[in-house]
Amino acid sequence: MAEKIVLAYSGGLDTSVAAHWLRVQRGYEVHCLTIDLGNLGDIEGIRERGQQAGAAAVDIVDGKEDFLRYFVFPALQAGVVYEGRYPLATALGRPLIAKLLVDKAREIGATAVAHGCTGKGNDQVRLDVGVQTLAPDLKIVGTTREHSVSRPEALEYAAANGINVRQSKESPYSTDENLWGRSVEAGILEDPWVEPPADVYLWTKPLDQTPTKPVVVEIRFEEGIPVALDGERLGPVELVQRLSNLGGEHGIGRIDMVENRLVGIKSREIYESPAAVILLEAHANLEQLTLTKQQVRFKNLVAQEYADLVYNGLWFTSHHRDLAQYVVSTQRHVTGDVRVRLWHGTTTVIGRRADRSLYMQSLATYEKEGDLFDQSHAQGFIKLHGLQAQVQAQAQMLLEPGQDLLRLAAPSE
Ligand code: ARG
Repeated sequence: MAEKIVLAYSGGLDTSVAAHWLRVQRGYEVHCLTIDLGNLGDIEGIRERGQQAGAAAVDIVDGKEDFLRYFVFPALQAGVVYEGRYPLATALGRPLIAKLLVDKAREIGATAVAHGCTGKGNDQVRLDVGVQTLAPDLKIVGTTREHSVSRPEALEYAAANGINVRQSKESPYSTDENLWGRSVEAGILEDPWVEPPADVYLWTKPLDQTPTKPVVVEIRFEEGIPVALDGERLGPVELVQRLSNLGGEHGIGRIDMVENRLVGIKSREIYESPAAVILLEAHANLEQLTLTKQQVRFKNLVAQEYADLVYNGLWFTSHHRDLAQYVVSTQRHVTGDVRVRLWHGTTTVIGRRADRSLYMQSLATYEKEGDLFDQSHAQGFIKLHGLQAQVQAQAQMLLEPGQDLLRLAAPSE
């Protein structure tokens, strides 16, 4: 009897060819697994091509809610953004895909899993490390890594083997989409000097087509998790989808960057992540109201580390679990509302309030009335705060004699 393999299946040209190849060339009984993390296209077409490729089964699993609840929202609470800009949509989807591949393999008694990631990217690392961590006994076949075919070859192979792939549906770019964002690379984008052509963007309007009037949304967070828009409680999928559509309409969430892949390659990437950009900004503003200075600072350090581990495929690790427990603990009082204005590609927080805010108007006020801050305390505090600087300047001299104090921070001449 043929051994069973579970293939992470997008239903596109490459994985359809891969399904056929695994069966005919490698002798596997192929079980295609398609995981819907949002924006899954033509489900009938996916099933049909899987069958045409000779798969024993094509399963389509709805992973949207789990994706947001267990991967995206923890990342939002942590405030993770890779290299200052990328909200990690693709990276956050991979550990869930790895887990579902393993679950399926266990369910049907498969001995292997397969994916079509190239050998140059991060996604192969994330899937492999995930599978290898959760199920070290499973063999991993990277169909593109082991048997790379050009696009024309793939089309020819599909046609010769009765797999119906309409070429028009295939984009000139390599793309990945889920509810948290859309990633686009390759094609003409490989030249970082070239402005992305209009057809790169599918979710976000160009600025010359966005509404002339801004829109204001009120987002409610409970313990760092978004739960309502404009007073209406929504489930995670509905909430993120609505914000994504609204943000896209106003041209929000376009990111054009060169990033450092784990495998050492710099690559030019385009992202569309309207919901992520809006929610990250709103969430950070609510934390500004509810966390102390030390908490915000330390949390930023944790966010860097957290972003790296998500990017580098180390989701299923104790290090991640430990960081996540810290983050969850910080979110206990991150409950409140943020008012955000969306307009011509910008997200501006215009108001925030929290149930347990640390902001005290009675301390901050410049009005006489109701002022609880005793200004006479300031002098002594400043004396001590500046003591080291004063002592050092006297004992060690800040500059050489004759040097110009104005040039303290300038390069020496
Ligand atoms: N560079 C991004 C990342 O590593 C996006 C990868 C996009 N993946 C794709 N198959 N097009 O997370």
